[in-house]
Amino acid sequence: MDAIELHDYGRIHAFTNMASRLVGCDTCQSPARLVGNTPVLWVPDLLGQTRNGFWAKIEGANPGGIKDRPALHMIIRARERGELAPGSPIIESTSGTLGLGLLLAGISYGHPATLVTDPGLEPLMANLLRAHGARVDVVPAPHPVGGWQEARRQRVRELRDRHPGAYCPDQYHNPDNVAAYGGLALELAGQLDRVDVLVCSVGTGGHSAGTARALRRMYPDMRLVGVDAVGSTIFGQPARPRLMRGLGSSIYPRNVDYDAFDEVHWVAPGEAVWACRTLARARYATGGWSVGAVALVASWLARTEPGHHRIAAVFPDGPQRYFGTVFDDAYCSRHDLLGVVPAEEPDEIAHPAEREVARWTRCADVTAPAEARVEVTQ
Ligand SMILES: Cc1ncc(COP(=O)(O)O)c(C=O)c1O
Repeated sequence: MDAIELHDYGRIHAFTNMASRLVGCDTCQSPARLVGNTPVLWVPDLLGQTRNGFWAKIEGANPGGIKDRPALHMIIRARERGELAPGSPIIESTSGTLGLGLLLAGISYGHPATLVTDPGLEPLMANLLRAHGARVDVVPAPHPVGGWQEARRQRVRELRDRHPGAYCPDQYHNPDNVAAYGGLALELAGQLDRVDVLVCSVGTGGHSAGTARALRRMYPDMRLVGVDAVGSTIFGQPARPRLMRGLGSSIYPRNVDYDAFDEVHWVAPGEAVWACRTLARARYATGGWSVGAVALVASWLARTEPGHHRIAAVFPDGPQRYFGTVFDDAYCSRHDLLGVVPAEEPDEIAHPAEREVARWTRCADVTAPAEARVEVTQ
């Protein structure tokens, strides 16, 4: 190769600069700028029975996962309203993903964070939170009625009483959690041109409510399909101990927009494990419990909806946090999750109170459970 003359470097630099702009490589002054603009990936029917498929929005491409978006938005809005003074601490209950987002927001805007969690938090996640500067506070026992989530919320209240000036975003009930997803919706609209069906897991209810609300302004007939965990109370099933984290709840978060859903599916852990592992082998892009559950449902919709329907499914995070659970044979065999092959079709119930479900089940009657209505008026 000929030697490169000094003046050529200037031209090469100008060219690479232009090329990196064209392919969308950004230069970020703040970690907050790393969030958003996540890709979508085509995922063919997981059973390979049809040529149909769905588009997965890969939120695991954010530095900490999907919750980077609401964490940043909740902190920015709290600062604007004067609820979070410069340098004041953030205290929040989290099963991990929001914690990472709050640390990103805290580092970007100068706030220390205390994260209240429970013993089910994966050691890798606890270490990750500490590595990014969190004080991790683990509650020792579940609340007799509200389970681990209520125990964590009580601990947050205690800590806030001890630290006046601390801000708790309260992701379960804070409308800024929902509002944070307008950007995700716009990205999806730009990437897919049209969305006929949106499939979202439900934990606090934030991303299903916020993404659907913004997308329906553009596509009023879009259907929203919710995905919950077996043993979660959100859509009116009895509360049971759950292995799956992220999706599901043992309380009734006010951010769940019951009226927005056309149907809900409950998925069991073994079925989610099958879907996560199948995704990993078929598409490389995989993730945790919520990704597996959403992929199972979206893949069924792709098989059963007309082929021209555009289905978007939100994948909230990547697989890293789940190497000791979903992707660990010893863990899965201890919990009887290995060798589970989901049925081709979900079971159906006419109403959530019809019976308690133990495997993948669908219900097209979505209404707020009476207990959720009580919580709303409190
Ligand atoms: C990994 C994961 N998936 C899904 C969800 C549910 O999302 P949302 O709280 O927006 O309903 C969460 C919430 O914490 C999560 O962490």
